Amino acid sequence: MDVVLGIESSCDETAAALVRADRTIIAQAIASQDEAHAPYGGVVPEIAARAHAERLAPMVERVLREAGMTLDDCAAVAATAGPGLIGGVMVGLVTAKALAMASDKPLLAINHLEGHALSPRLADPALGFPYLLLLVSGGHCQILAVEGVGHYRRLGTTIDDALGEAFDKTAKVLGLGFPGGPLVERLAAQGDPAAVHLPRPLLGSDEPHFSFAGLKSAVVRAKAGQIASWDRDARRDASQDATNGAARPELAYTDADIAASFQQAAIDCLVDRLNHALRRIATPPALVVAGGVAANSAVRAALERLAGEHGMRFSAPPPALCTDNAAMIGWAGLERLASGATGPDGDPLDIAARPRWPLDPAAEAARGAGVKA
Ligand code: KG4
Ligand code: ZN
Repeated sequence: MDVVLGIESSCDETAAALVRADRTIIAQAIASQDEAHAPYGGVVPEIAARAHAERLAPMVERVLREAGMTLDDCAAVAATAGPGLIGGVMVGLVTAKALAMASDKPLLAINHLEGHALSPRLADPALGFPYLLLLVSGGHCQILAVEGVGHYRRLGTTIDDALGEAFDKTAKVLGLGFPGGPLVERLAAQGDPAAVHLPRPLLGSDEPHFSFAGLKSAVVRAKAGQIASWDRDARRDASQDATNGAARPELAYTDADIAASFQQAAIDCLVDRLNHALRRIATPPALVVAGGVAANSAVRAALERLAGEHGMRFSAPPPALCTDNAAMIGWAGLERLASGATGPDGDPLDIAARPRWPLDPAAEAARGAGVKA
């Protein structure tokens, strides 16, 4: 009875998984809705909610069948209860309530961010508490001191856009498609990260936070050809030489250069803000990255290097556990069961979906912070 059924439906992935306390993912299924949202260049909440409603119940059945199990074999049902798109969260939570009630099992209402925050421990048995976590996804960019299950201290967050959003916008501007992160990463591998002058917002700032809106709009200007390449001055000198008959080089950069320069600027910001956080706290034993953007190999490599410089262990889940999935929700449920912190008092069937649900309720709002939880 050390198995939990996990359910995830907070954005555009419908997912169900059976996870055992020994870290085995017994069975899992995940259906992304990329094609449904692609024509709009982003997730359309109403389309997402309908797709979750159509897919989730048969998916749970399939996962149980594949595992040769029934709900009687599970210790609990864990579902994302927020933050996220309210329609999708409600579909997942209501389904989980029905399953829990029908099988007389406890319902665990999981914070999606806690799912990401604990996911590295599902993949890495040696990762103990505390650790410094960079949580980077499509909706969030936070630095957290993870001190134990349920104990998350937010050290910094984005005051405007999440980094995943900036990756998706860059992909859109470059005409790559949706979701953009993996496509930008692939194109960036062919470009020169030093080709285009892009801003690094809040770099060196005394504030603990991130900002990516300025970088995002600089990518738009770069695509429009309004941003200098690094060697423009050299080229101007060359063009003056041209009056003396010397050859003049082309004044141009490619889309791959824009992608690579964007990715590098973003990484510089991540490293700078983590260094800032590390100056303010006692160095924890491990540096950990989680969330969709943690699937990016250039980001992982830069953070691994940073961890080495600080004498810290580095841990990141495999890419499939970085982007939204249900195994991390089932795992967070198991961690909650093991720690005894199974949720608020009262009837779990009364738990409401929470479109906003900060991991650290005590964290002060960041200057200029918008609606992101
Ligand atoms: O964690 P996630 O699946 O959903 C949220 O909770 O937001 O993160 C999705 C985000 C998207 O913005 C996607 O473009 C980004 O993660 N992403 C990546 C990569 N894979 C996914 N960004 C950069 N490089 C990647 N390889
Ligand atoms: Zn997520």
